Amino acid sequence: MSKVKLNLIAAACENMGIGINGDLPWRLKNEMAYFTRMTTNVQDKNKVNAVIMGRRTWDSIPPKYSPLQDRLNIVLTRKVEAIREKVPEGVIVLSGIDEAIEYIEEHKNIESAWVIGGSSIYKLGMDHANCDKIYLTEIQKTYESDTFFPDIDKDKFKLITEDNVPTERQTENRIDYFFRIYKKVC
Ligand SMILES: NC(=O)c1ccc[n+]([C@@H]2O[C@H](COP(=O)([O-])OP(=O)(O)OC[C@H]3O[C@@H](n4cnc5c(N)ncnc54)[C@H](OP(=O)(O)O)[C@@H]3O)[C@@H](O)[C@H]2O)c1
Repeated sequence: MSKVKLNLIAAACENMGIGINGDLPWRLKNEMAYFTRMTTNVQDKNKVNAVIMGRRTWDSIPPKYSPLQDRLNIVLTRKVEAIREKVPEGVIVLSGIDEAIEYIEEHKNIESAWVIGGSSIYKLGMDHANCDKIYLTEIQKTYESDTFFPDIDKDKFKLITEDNVPTERQTENRIDYFFRIYKKVC
């Protein structure tokens, strides 16, 4: 098995909704800043992290933030040739999660691999042998959604804490949420 570990990072509301109409169901600036910090920070300043996403999540990134800066953007699609023609230089388009892992393995300047959605890509990441942790922001409210985070098998993933992730309740625009981390234990 390759040594590349996959971290998932997502924000989900009480019904596990993560998206609606190709967008997020909420606007939470500090939560977005957390996503940026977690996916960007590296220990070795000569390296970058990779963010792996489905083609629809790629399409959902507002133009001024696309590609996600200071990270290697990897887009998964079944139409590799067509999408490759459309993305800016430096964005990697691949046909599946194993191809992404192989790419990361071959590029030693990549420090960590973050799976950033959407639904089916989270599922691929979560079920993959290389999956290590799920960073899930649990928003304490229900939003109308058409895209959902897959069920987490609580026998397989256990809650942990890390020094760089606050455990206390976060409140923004009167919306409460918690930063949770689930680690695969078997
Ligand atoms: N709350 C959060 O944390 C969060 C995070 C990410 C996204 N979102 C939201 O989620 C929504 C987008 O997610 P989504 O679930 O609709 O789409 P998605 O997973 O981002 O993208 C789906 C696309 O990925 C490609 N794909 C899927 N499985 C594949 C496989 N096995 N191999 C190769 N390519 C594959 C296909 O692209 P082609 O059609 O090109 O073949 C498919 O149409 C948006 O609303 C977005 O705002 C929320």
